[in-house]
Amino acid sequence: MDYTVTIFEQEEESLNIIKNYFEDIAGYTVKNSFTDYQDGYSAIKNDLPNILIIDVTGEEALMYIRKAAELGCKVIALNSKWTTGKAIRTLRAGASDFISIPVIKNELTESLQKLALPEVSSDTKNRVLTVFSNKGGIGKTAIAVNLAVELAKITKEKVALLDLNLQLGDVSAFLDVKPTFDISYVLNSNIEKDEDFILKTFEKYKNLELYILAEPAFAETAKDIKPKQISMLLNSLRKIFSYIIIDMSSAIDEKSATILDNSDLILFPTIINIPAIRNCQRCMDWFGRMGYSENKTRILVNRYVENDEINITDFETALGREVYWKIPNNYFTIMSAINKGVPVSEINEDSNITCSLRDLAIKISDSIIEQNITERVKSKTV
Ligand SMILES: Nc1ncnc2c1ncn2[C@@H]1O[C@H](COP(=O)(O)OP(=O)(O)OP(=O)(O)O)[C@@H](O)[C@H]1O
Ligand SMILES: [Mg+2]
Repeated sequence: MDYTVTIFEQEEESLNIIKNYFEDIAGYTVKNSFTDYQDGYSAIKNDLPNILIIDVTGEEALMYIRKAAELGCKVIALNSKWTTGKAIRTLRAGASDFISIPVIKNELTESLQKLALPEVSSDTKNRVLTVFSNKGGIGKTAIAVNLAVELAKITKEKVALLDLNLQLGDVSAFLDVKPTFDISYVLNSNIEKDEDFILKTFEKYKNLELYILAEPAFAETAKDIKPKQISMLLNSLRKIFSYIIIDMSSAIDEKSATILDNSDLILFPTIINIPAIRNCQRCMDWFGRMGYSENKTRILVNRYVENDEINITDFETALGREVYWKIPNNYFTIMSAINKGVPVSEINEDSNITCSLRDLAIKISDSIIEQNITERVKSKTV
């Protein structure tokens, strides 16, 4: 697998020179190039290239360097006339290195070597799946917890379950675990967040390869957690876990935006009634403004009842979006699971809600495997 590169450059000549150099440098693939920063940023939020090469044409570029660095991209900045001040501001914004235009091949290769890039695994299926709704009490935690358990069971791969509902998290209560460490400890520790550290600080759940990271022990410390820390943590986790399942709050704020930006798939649970349709629409509009493609968000109808007054087709028509999955209403099973602190499968392996959540996990893991195979086939045929 190559490191992926995106280039923001308005000068066609300079862009072509850089692209030509990359043809000869092994281990890197130029995925995209943009002449407009905003367009480019919308794309890199989804693609998450390893490297961004950006022409610093003004102050605006520094903002995009900052944003790209927050996403975990290594940034190489270009300029035809570096001054000490400009270089300092660029590095402070988060660039890893700066080189001059016209770009010289040796300078570019030296700069790439300095980046200390993460190892690119040959398996690209590490996916961050976030259960989010702007409505409280809609079933986010119930879905996140049971989905994580089912994914760990089905795939036998490493799954992380993160409670990013930083003030009101209840993942540990849903699974009756008392983790020794919490997210504040993990984020504030100076120890390198490598596999060894993560697997020791996350709480392993029973005999599954499921590792839980709980919300801060003290709700008042939640505000000290910075969006950047969250995106950096997620980047570390991508290297360790096949699936990262996130439960989060209903807030629409900077922290939520960072979590959603860093997610590969957003599972959006809703119930079916008129206010919920309006609410769902509002949130889909927000996702649109954030630059998310429809592919990134999946609507899950929770507490689904057949022959309800509003049926799924009416709901889909009103929303102009398809429903990805339906989770049946089963108050008894879910409440006994919550009260006992176990997944629904431990209450009743064959209940409709257990089967639905298991099948959802299968559908998600199958589609990810399919995507990986398609990507591999594509990379071999290009
Ligand atoms: N499929 C379901 N069938 C019946 N009841 C359900 C279902 N899913 C969730 N519930 C009920 O909804 C309640 C809220 O669920 P949950 O705590 O998972 O929601 P949440 O969106 O995480 O809430 P919060 O916004 O407070 O974090 C549960 O206590 C349970 O009673
Ligand atoms: Mg919750």
